[in-house]
Amino acid sequence: MDTVKIDCSRPYEVLVGTGLLDTAGEHIVRTTGCQTAAVVADDTVDALYGDRVQASLERAGCRVVRFRFPHGEQSKTIATYVQLLHFLAENRLTRSDAVVALGGGVTGDLAGFAAATFMRGMALVQLPTTLLAAVDSSVGGKTAVDLPQGKNLAGAFHQPSLVLCDCDTLDTLPADVFRDGCAEVIKYGVLCDAQFFESLQKPVNEQREAVISRCVRIKSDIVSRDERDKRERQLLNLGHTIGHAIEQCSGFTVSHGQAVAIGMAHVARAAFRRGLCKRDCPGRIEEMLRLYGLPVSTSLEPEMLAQAALSDKKRTGKQITLVIPEEIGRCVLYPLPVSEIAELIREGVEAL
Ligand code: NAD
Ligand code: GLY
Repeated sequence: MDTVKIDCSRPYEVLVGTGLLDTAGEHIVRTTGCQTAAVVADDTVDALYGDRVQASLERAGCRVVRFRFPHGEQSKTIATYVQLLHFLAENRLTRSDAVVALGGGVTGDLAGFAAATFMRGMALVQLPTTLLAAVDSSVGGKTAVDLPQGKNLAGAFHQPSLVLCDCDTLDTLPADVFRDGCAEVIKYGVLCDAQFFESLQKPVNEQREAVISRCVRIKSDIVSRDERDKRERQLLNLGHTIGHAIEQCSGFTVSHGQAVAIGMAHVARAAFRRGLCKRDCPGRIEEMLRLYGLPVSTSLEPEMLAQAALSDKKRTGKQITLVIPEEIGRCVLYPLPVSEIAELIREGVEAL
């Protein structure tokens, strides 16, 4: 088992290992001191792992109540959030109890936002069960639900008290959901670790614990320097500006991981054409993404993508900040006037 310490306004640990669901109760009670735990999970994950987490918490002397919701992004809404708040109130949770988010990023974001706001904030424990949640969403304290006008528009920063990543849970993950997480893993290599990037020639699934630990350490370093996403943390958006536009313009038929993969490859090609990145960088990114069965281009119109990109949260006034790879392992923030976004997207369309 590996322990990664997250050094932020409220420091906490991320434990990465196997068999952790069965010892989750003792870790959670020791860390939070809770008497009641509200375990939040979608229907799929609840059926797979809910009973084990409940049993573990009860062995540790904790009362358990369970909130279950239909799986999928369509549940990450104000309506589900309000249902969860009512559930916490009806079950008489207090500020000294804990919300336990058991699942992927949807569960973590939804349960996290409820924990951030119920009684002005209570303890949150993240038990990620997707690769994406393990390497990204369970760490760093961003919580949110979607509004009809856009993703993650209502949310709060609320750091968890503890993250327990049981890699065994990835055994039941559908292949396409695992592949989506691999796009985020590749992103960390492109961002700041060329050696780690190369190590991904060996399949992530054969080195899950090491890969998750490395990604969490990279995220931990970034979050400790910029917890509130004012500057350096924005690097984690590599591939996401164009990626979000692709998700939106495809009517969400292109998954998040696929869209991020295309976004990374696209921005790298554009960066090369602008003389901002090394010759071999776009090709190496594409090669790695293809190795994981991820796409590297889209047939969606650049003008339409540009319009969608401009509605992104990362836009500030007349400027939008993109993340540009200079070489594998080094990326920079690249502020761009909004009037130039369509041109940059066009520059990334053609293969090199
Ligand atoms: P998800 O939570 O919807 O999980 C994907 C699917 O996998 C679901 O159908 C779920 O039921 C199923 N599943 C989860 N674990 C499983 C398991 N172990 N076995 C079998 N099935 C399992 O989606 P996700 O990809 O984990 O997360 C996407 C969400 O994360 C988005 O809403 C995104 O906005 C958010 N996100 C948040 C952050 C952050 O920093 N807070 C970062 C990245 C993404
Ligand atoms: N997933 C991006 C962030 O945590 O900042």
